[in-house]
Amino acid sequence: MKEKNEQTPRVYFDHNATTYMRKEIIELMMPYFGEKYGNPSSLHFFGQEGRAALDKARAQVAALIGADPEEILFTSGGTESDNLAIQGTVRKNRDRVKRPHIITSSIEHPAVLRTCQALEKEGSEVTYLPCDRQGIVDIRRLEEIIRPETVLVSLMLANNETGVIQPVEDAARITRKLGVPLHVDGIQGVGKIPVDVSALGVDMLSISPHKFYGPKGVGALYRKRGTGLAAVYSGGHHEVGLRPGTENVPAIVGFGEACRITALRLEQEMKQIGDLRDRLEKGIRERVEDILLNGAGKRRVPNTCCVTVRRIEGEALVLNLSVLGFAISSGSACASGESRPSHVLIAMGLDPVDAQSTLRISLGIGNTVGDVEAFLEVLPEVVQRLRKLSPI
Ligand SMILES: Cc1ncc(COP(=O)(O)O)c(C=O)c1O
Repeated sequence: MKEKNEQTPRVYFDHNATTYMRKEIIELMMPYFGEKYGNPSSLHFFGQEGRAALDKARAQVAALIGADPEEILFTSGGTESDNLAIQGTVRKNRDRVKRPHIITSSIEHPAVLRTCQALEKEGSEVTYLPCDRQGIVDIRRLEEIIRPETVLVSLMLANNETGVIQPVEDAARITRKLGVPLHVDGIQGVGKIPVDVSALGVDMLSISPHKFYGPKGVGALYRKRGTGLAAVYSGGHHEVGLRPGTENVPAIVGFGEACRITALRLEQEMKQIGDLRDRLEKGIRERVEDILLNGAGKRRVPNTCCVTVRRIEGEALVLNLSVLGFAISSGSACASGESRPSHVLIAMGLDPVDAQSTLRISLGIGNTVGDVEAFLEVLPEVVQRLRKLSPI
């Protein structure tokens, strides 16, 4: 086995976890860490400089998804946006509905799943829609499941492990007809595919710019005008009282710029990344036997490849590839050091052993054909070696 040395590449294939920031974005943020430090709520000129920066960023975020600036609420990230949408809706309905009912799916991110589970403990009822073998949420029963106590439907736009795009528009037709708000966790979709909130028909949409070359620790919740929502935190008047707390101005400036650049380059970058992903999957198919490309036949975001390499422990493969200079992720949730098969893959019907043998390779704009070829060169050898050692 090759050892890590100065020739070892450093190839990042984990863009669904997070991305680096575009240089232009870092440069634009810098003054807001330094001389432009005013609190946007202050009336004087320092404050007004911050306020103007927030207004500009709000308009840029809104423009990327076809919303109005007043419909954008800044938060501390995707997790908070999901929490605000779900908890805030339940709170808003607390007086009206004794036992609020939420509908979501079994393949959501923990930011949604655990929020729903916490609400169940507090008296809400949650229905988890199943998905098919390709990782598409089955919404056929949505209409019959919705009942007078249903306060929210929450579905993701694209799955973080498989990249599979979900039938949000179809769900929206049903929720609109029945007058139930639809929240969409758009965190793995926005910045990777074109998203227009009116065309999708959603009432709320969570966004997180660290998935598309913007800063971490900042996010937004799009809330269609008139959608009922209560604050989860108590405090000041910020973000129309729905998300109190002094705004993270440097990060919001970077968020706005990430949206502006994405709007300009998305089409070309989607094509570039999609071509690379196709090359990668073709190469894996040709060079490694006994694999499954999960969700590959379905509409996916262009950067994500979810591959089961049977008869290997996924984490062993991740660690071995890391030593060789390739950063990828395994399909198991690593909670407190204990590794469990991914709930997404299990929901898709993979057996737990196959789920543990699954990798997520997520490409980004900095990746090249050379990166993919270098990966394809080392992969068969590592797979062969690990299969020989594997107890599976
Ligand atoms: C689908 C999805 N939802 C929510 C989140 C959480 O977003 P954040 O990291 O901004 O809190 C992630 C992050 O990986 C995600 O992939």
